[in-house]
Amino acid sequence: MRRTLLGVVVMGAALGIARPDAAAAQAVELPPEVREWLARDQAQRWAAMIAEGDSIFNSQSCRRCHGDNGSGGRNGPDLTDSTWVQSDGSLEGIRRTIFWGVRREAFSDPAWRFEMNPGGGADPTWAQYSSLAAYVWSLSNGTHLPGR
Ligand code: HEC
Repeated sequence: MRRTLLGVVVMGAALGIARPDAAAAQAVELPPEVREWLARDQAQRWAAMIAEGDSIFNSQSCRRCHGDNGSGGRNGPDLTDSTWVQSDGSLEGIRRTIFWGVRREAFSDPAWRFEMNPGGGADPTWAQYSSLAAYVWSLSNGTHLPGR
């Protein structure tokens, strides 16, 4: 088999072999000023995601079922408590629920009248799925950065 550079890199990635230069880059100790600056930048990006999720959630279909700020509605459960029935309540779990929606067979309570469509009826872009998940996650976890 002819080995191409790309093939080797892809195979290395598949086998979990870190490229030496990537490992070296991770080991670089950043000056405190740079670390602080990056942290501030990340905090701003996180806040911007939550704000975007908020604006989609409260101006579109989500709010019609889940109520203002996810406080619970006639056709959708409260999303502000920390009880999760469709996932483990992690960012990824919440995003997956929003992506796939909730079929009737999966309802935790058969009394819900309508299924939640994939995308929650909001037709989000890829980036907006993450923003919606960040916003819903923040309703019970707070708007601080995860792990802080
Ligand atoms: C037609 C009504 C409806 C719409 C619109 C809707 N949902 Fe839902 N949602 C539901 C129902 C019903 C459930 C399932 C509740 C259950 O299983 O008890 C649910 C579940 C969820 C859950 C999982 C909650 C848990 O406890 O695990 C999340 C997260 C969620 N919705 C987010 C959203 C977001 C974000 C949007 C908008 C993009 C949205 N939903 C739009 C009705 C709706």
